[in-house]
Amino acid sequence: MQRHMKTGGGGSSLVVEDVCKTFGHGADEHRVIEGLSLRVDPGEFVCVVGPSGAGKTTLLRCLSGLIRPTTGTIRYGGELLTRPHADIAVVFQDYRGSLLPWMRVRDNVAFPLEGMGVKRAERNRRAEECLGAVGLADVGDKYPWQLSGGMQQRVAIARGLAYEAPVLLMDEPFGSVDAQSRFDLEDLTLSLRASLGITVVLVTHDIDEAVYLGDRVVVIGGRPTTVVDNLVVDLGADRDQITTRADHRFTDLRTRVLTMIREAQAQAQGEGPTVRSESTSEEPAPDRSPGDAMGGATGGTGRGDGPAREKTGRAVR
Ligand SMILES: Nc1ncnc2c1ncn2[C@@H]1O[C@H](COP(=O)(O)OP(=O)(O)OP(=O)(O)O)[C@@H](O)[C@H]1O
Ligand SMILES: [Mg+2]
Repeated sequence: MQRHMKTGGGGSSLVVEDVCKTFGHGADEHRVIEGLSLRVDPGEFVCVVGPSGAGKTTLLRCLSGLIRPTTGTIRYGGELLTRPHADIAVVFQDYRGSLLPWMRVRDNVAFPLEGMGVKRAERNRRAEECLGAVGLADVGDKYPWQLSGGMQQRVAIARGLAYEAPVLLMDEPFGSVDAQSRFDLEDLTLSLRASLGITVVLVTHDIDEAVYLGDRVVVIGGRPTTVVDNLVVDLGADRDQITTRADHRFTDLRTRVLTMIREAQAQAQGEGPTVRSESTSEEPAPDRSPGDAMGGATGGTGRGDGPAREKTGRAVR
């Protein structure tokens, strides 16, 4: 795909520091996230994986500036993120709830730009361009309900791209489509990221998807949720649905992520072992701090045949 769309590259770093998010008050108070720290550098593709109900959508909404953390900070380019930012676009969890059935596909993609003050001709240009980028150049005049689920999800992605934002947040973007469409959409996302140079943060409960897509996988879990592992995915830039998923490094990483999630769940239920650092005696583990889970894609240890480990949450709270 040609790099014809304007995005401004990968933007700036997103830095989450010691974030807690609590819903409700008094007897209804529910702490969903606690002490979560995370860093995403420009151009990275970071997948956040965790079980259903762990707080993935909550975290993504915080990253998008739609809601504020109860405590802790989120900074974009060093500035405190307190509201939605023009550099950060979101593809929401369920396209069925976010596409407007009475609006043609082109208008669904273009209409959020109206609120940003983008002129009609430019809105339509961007909509056509982004629909073309997701392989839907010829459906602008149709209504969403005239498209398959996979096509509707492509429309939702096109709408995210139309912001021309350097950072794209995606919330379980392929959760509602069949397996084959899911593979196609994963590859589409990888190719868009490569051609546009954007930063992507994608949350999913699908461990294989996280490992297949990410430069880095941040594993969240526990109760309340925090970062329990942070793995560099050393599978190279060229991913293939058949060969990458058959690669022993892929299966090692998937096993590692699943183990961490299970241990975090067991720990949260008070019946399992403490999640331990796997740092070896050659590399003593640092003390846990709010920044323990932070770091860029280049920080992995990459030792031996096992999955490259970046920094680890050593104890699950
Ligand atoms: N606005 C809200 N008010 C009260 N509780 C909320 C709110 N939003 C989320 N929660 C609670 O926070 C917890 C995490 O929800 P969230 O939607 O972030 O999980 P998730 O990891 O995205 O789950 P899923 O994988 O099912 O999408 C849930 O217990 C949910 O009930
Ligand atoms: Mg969710």
